[in-house]
This record gives sequence, C-alpha cells and structure tokens, in this order.
Amino acid sequence: MMNAVEIKGLYKSYENGNIKALNGIDLTIEDGEFVSIIGPSGSGKSTLLNMLGALDIPDSGTITVAGQDLRSSKKLNEFRGEKIGFIFQLHNLIPNISVRENIEIPMYTQKMSSKEMKVRALKLLDDVGLKDKADIMPNKLSGGERQRVAIARALANEPSIILADEPTGSLDSKTSSRILKQLIDLHEGKNVTLIIVTHDMDVAKLADRVVEVLDGEIISAGEESLIHGKINV
Ligand SMILES: Nc1ncnc2c1ncn2[C@@H]1O[C@H](COP(=O)(O)OP(=O)(O)OP(=O)(O)O)[C@@H](O)[C@H]1O
Ligand SMILES: [Mg+2]
Repeated sequence: MMNAVEIKGLYKSYENGNIKALNGIDLTIEDGEFVSIIGPSGSGKSTLLNMLGALDIPDSGTITVAGQDLRSSKKLNEFRGEKIGFIFQLHNLIPNISVRENIEIPMYTQKMSSKEMKVRALKLLDDVGLKDKADIMPNKLSGGERQRVAIARALANEPSIILADEPTGSLDSKTSSRILKQLIDLHEGKNVTLIIVTHDMDVAKLADRVVEVLDGEIISAGEESLIHGKINV
C-alpha cells in the first residue's frame, strides 16, 4: 500500500531564517488514513499543511504526497487541482463571482462541460446545506456559510487527499458535526486521506491518529505514543 504522505527532515523558516516555522518534521501518513494535527497557535500547523498542499516550498528535507515528489515536480498546479482538496483557515473565496462559480473554479482543470460543472457544484452546495445561496456573492454570507462553501469547493474534484485547516473553526456545533460527518463519510466510503488541523480536541479525537506539533516539531505522532516520554491522547 502506498503512503499518502512521506516527509523527512522538513525545515521551513521565514524572515531570512529568523522565524523557524518547521524544525525537522518527519511524518508518514498512510493512504486512506484520518489524521488530526493539534498544537498551540504559531506552532507550525498551517505551515505544514501548506507544504502538504504544495502551496509553499520547504527550505530543506523531502516531501512526497500522493506519490509526487513535491520538491522536484514541475506540475504542482495540476497535482494540486487533481489530488488535493484544501480547506483553508481563512476561506479564500473569490469575492466578485457567485458562490456556485467559486465551487466550479477547481473544475476548470478537468474536462467538464459548463452544465456538468453546474450540476456538480449545486450537488456539493446541497451537501453543505447551501443550495439556495448558489447565485449570491460570498460577501453576503456569514463566516460559517463561507466555510461551508470553502468545503464544497475543496471537494469539487473528488480529491484523494483532503487538507483542512480548522474546518469547523467558525461553525456552530450542529453545522460542525454535519461537516465533519461529510468529511468522515468521504474518508470511510471513498478511502480519502483526511488531514485536519484543529484546536478542538473533540474533533481531533475522531481521527485514527492525533499528531501533536510544538515549535515546528512533532512531539507525538499518535501510534508511537511514547515519543519524548509522553503518552499521547
Ligand atoms: N508568511 C509568513 N511570513 C512570516 N512568518 C510566518 C508566515 N507564515 C507563518 N509564519 C510564522 O511561522 C510560525 C508558524 O505559523 P503557522 O501559521 O504555521 O502556525 P499555526 O500553528 O497554524 O498557528 P494557528 O493555530 O494560530 O493557526 C509562526 O511564528 C508564524 O508567525
Ligand atoms: Mg494556522
């Protein structure tokens, strides 16, 4: 079985090396695994997720995601569009096009007619409970509604890996449960690899494995529960 993620000795700094966001990360995630990533604010969780989604380049180390070496590949846009569903911490919706069109954006990399794109976008919107908002602009939505649109957009191309940065951060508990159920259904039903960054321990504990990050290092990787002499959750 292939691994969804293989990371070895990954370093990333910002501001000419003054801010060390990732300090030697080693991490393997199996195909179809559901992993949550926890850790304090500023510990490097989003930086790590950005690396996994090929949105940023490490300073050193190796990173392979869905069989792609992200350091050598020149087709990162295609890779991202086809394999990765990214749910951002800040929703990153495009403001001047409708909710439905936002969801269709990733589909342009596929060979789909505009009719097919529309049908799929409306189905995805229905799944997150927002079918009636299809034709409005994102700035007319609440924060939680925007988050749900961002989730629908991440699922647009049926990705093999979903990377979610605080996907339920701005949602009430009922909507949060619904979104989580949808993500977990994809994980269980379609063997999608699910990697969720969260501050919420109730969400984190739903995963097969909880990975704990502190100061840019992994201090506990779940199964190997005695790293640093510490029993993990
Ligand atoms: N683009 C950037 N330029 C400079 N510093 C950055 C940049 N992005 C992140 N950092 C810094 O890198 C460190 C790790 O940030 P990161 O966003 O990965 O944290 P996080 O664990 O996701 O935190 P939070 O829980 O608050 O979202 C922090 O010190 C942050 O200030
Ligand atoms: Mg973050």
